[in-house]
Amino acid sequence: MSALPACSDEVAFADWSAAVAARVEIALARTLPDEELAPQRLHQAMRYAVLGAGKRVRPLLVHAAGQLCKAPVAALDSAACAVELIHAYSLVHDDMPCMDDDALRRGKPTVHIAYGEALAMLVGDALQALAFESLCGAGAQGASAASTVRMCAELARAAGSTGMAGGQAIDLASVGLQLDRESLEDMHRRKTGAMLTASVRLGAWCGDPLDAARQAALERYAAAIGLAFQVVDDILDVEGDAGTLGKSAGKDALNDKPTYVSVIGLEASRDLARGLRDDAYAACDTLGAGAQRLHQIARLIVERKS
Ligand code: IPE
Ligand code: IPE
Ligand code: MG
Ligand code: MG
Ligand code: MG
Repeated sequence: MSALPACSDEVAFADWSAAVAARVEIALARTLPDEELAPQRLHQAMRYAVLGAGKRVRPLLVHAAGQLCKAPVAALDSAACAVELIHAYSLVHDDMPCMDDDALRRGKPTVHIAYGEALAMLVGDALQALAFESLCGAGAQGASAASTVRMCAELARAAGSTGMAGGQAIDLASVGLQLDRESLEDMHRRKTGAMLTASVRLGAWCGDPLDAARQAALERYAAAIGLAFQVVDDILDVEGDAGTLGKSAGKDALNDKPTYVSVIGLEASRDLARGLRDDAYAACDTLGAGAQRLHQIARLIVERKS
């Protein structure tokens, strides 16, 4: 187990994460075009997709890794906005009839249900572009020009055809197939892990460089929580209900998707998630002082109910 207390200050973590979520909500609301700006319906739909809900796990990771590296908070806000905008776009497209065909997201009708399919597609396109505009602002907020360029390249890689979009392509091509464990892990690391890893990296890159041992530990942390996140998502799809999840449950089986639950079973999936959480804790031990928030987020990712 970890040398860091599992969660010595549970209340302080709740306060910290609520404060980060509130900061990021304000930054997102400022970054998104006003609903009155033409084209109004597109801008309304973008704000509908992004604001007001979501666990904001990726922004929490940006801020936690940034805190570890003593990064300027304003630069972290720009990076946190960027990853959350890409994430929100990925959800809008993931829910469309041509993908998972879901009607409920973050407790309300999905964007294509509320605004139509064509606009949902454009919301995704525009959120992706806005993410990079926001990240370019990190330079002005105290991150160096070199680290801003590096962050843009990392976000593009994580969102692109070898990262999230590629993972989603594998997901669609895998409907009805029983993937082996290696292929399943590869798909999950791309479709979900890549953006979580990018969140950790962007936060760290806004601040002071880590020595090689701590850099490697941060990578191990990101890899562990990135995979754990989707393993838990697969479990919650089976165990959760729409009221708690804010999205439909039972959809993976209905859509005949290979998931950790379908490939290795529920109990083995739970064990795997706990093992990955412990790997993340071990990485936090190596990271030492300043890694407490990362430790607490690893716990949140594995023990969450929504
Ligand atoms: C859902 O992500 C999609 C996956 C990558 C599994 P989240 O569970 O982070 O969704 P929100 O942002 O809280 O709605
Ligand atoms: C989505 O995975 C991953 C993304 C890149 C959006 P899922 O399809 O399992 O996500 P949910 O369960 O709909 O949130
Ligand atoms: Mg999907
Ligand atoms: Mg889905
Ligand atoms: Mg899912």
